[in-house]
Amino acid sequence: MRTLISGATCVLPSGLARTDVLIEDGRILGVDPPAGARVDETIRAEGLHLLPGVIDPHVHFRDPGLTHKEDFRTATRACAKGGVTTFLEMPNTQPETITRDRLAEKLALASEKCLVNYGFYIGASLHNLDELKQATRTPGIKIFVGSSTGDMLVDDQATLERIFAETTLPITAHCEDETTVRANRDAIGGGSTHADHSRIRDERAAVICVQRVFDLAYRHRHRFHLVHVSTAAETELLRDHRGLITGEACPHHLFFNVDDYERLGSLVQMNPSIKTAADNAGLWQALHDGRLQVVATDHAPHTLEEKRQPYPKSPSGLPAVENSLALMLDSVQRGLCSLEQVVSWMCDAPARVWDIVNKGRITAGHDADLVLVDLNRRQTIRNAEQQTKCGWSPWDGTTLTGWPVRTWVLGQTVFCDEDLQPSAPDSPVRPFQRGHYDETVRGTEAQFDHTRGGYWQTMD
Ligand code: DOR
Ligand code: ZN
Repeated sequence: MRTLISGATCVLPSGLARTDVLIEDGRILGVDPPAGARVDETIRAEGLHLLPGVIDPHVHFRDPGLTHKEDFRTATRACAKGGVTTFLEMPNTQPETITRDRLAEKLALASEKCLVNYGFYIGASLHNLDELKQATRTPGIKIFVGSSTGDMLVDDQATLERIFAETTLPITAHCEDETTVRANRDAIGGGSTHADHSRIRDERAAVICVQRVFDLAYRHRHRFHLVHVSTAAETELLRDHRGLITGEACPHHLFFNVDDYERLGSLVQMNPSIKTAADNAGLWQALHDGRLQVVATDHAPHTLEEKRQPYPKSPSGLPAVENSLALMLDSVQRGLCSLEQVVSWMCDAPARVWDIVNKGRITAGHDADLVLVDLNRRQTIRNAEQQTKCGWSPWDGTTLTGWPVRTWVLGQTVFCDEDLQPSAPDSPVRPFQRGHYDETVRGTEAQFDHTRGGYWQTMD
């Protein structure tokens, strides 16, 4: 089956171009194929933009063990709707993903339930060094050097030294200094409002921990990716660290700040906490000048019932995977960034940072993981329409301009909006509806090639 996506403006590695894309057997067969090439199906996409599928390298999908919050099926329906075609998931599930056996079990579960491509980090514990050394089929190692949801804290210096010295997989870490967090918490008597969350998990906690982990990465020359950078101060530490260290920003740290607690309370309670408007600006600046390379969501659903508990009982985390691309497309419309930058931060750079083979770009031979977007579509985020099992979004009621209208994973449609432009007469008629998902599609395990060196060595 050959499908031609015709007439869209494509975001190619060389820039924007209005051209056709031919896909077959799950791959991109050609960009700007010769006229007269055999085609079985034509998707008319005039007026729309074609992007590589989004790779979200930082999510918490709760499967197995916490499936009252989310599971692979609901999470990946949300991905499909949001234009996310590959995700990399964190190990703080139950059981925790801290052995090769548990990694294999999670991969098997995902192969049954996921509509999009998947990969899973292996988590560090105080006693699993051998597992970390021998793990394969994983993008890398996740260490909770600061505590968060779950019970995975590893902040013992001797253990960290050995992990950085003796393992070879890329490492990522949650960085908030425990001693500082505890001292802040004691200083305000434990905290009683959601705004206290940002006083407890403050800028100092983030910076102290990041400095400590960067020191480990440098001394051991170990490839390191800093997740969910929340402060402008941390981005200063990312200057001149290219090649060995990369970093990411999340939509909630780009778009929310402490002024939002009054309106949203625990819905914006996250670890690391949201910070100030100046930090929002600092993160945007760091994306623009390349100190941060990636936008990832840290999608971390909890039920509204759990979230409604008074602070500090309310858990940290918010869902974002189905709205992250739209939030960034809306930012293009608002003049905050270009479409090419969005593709770099959400598609190309994640593939390079985590050495994911054949994804992140629209180029012949790459996987046909694609998303068609309508940059003019205005749509309001509604809790009732969310695919995530938790059924809410901190952006409920927000109207954004720029939305995915169709998503392909390995050449197969996983999401198609009802209002997509009509198909050409020669293409099979399908009952397109908003939220139409092809449940027969299954994603595949992402392939990683860690032999290619650091992020910048792989830049063309
Ligand atoms: O707010 C957070 N929630 N931060 C994390 O690091 C973990 C996440 C979760 O799993 O709930
Ligand atoms: Zn996380």
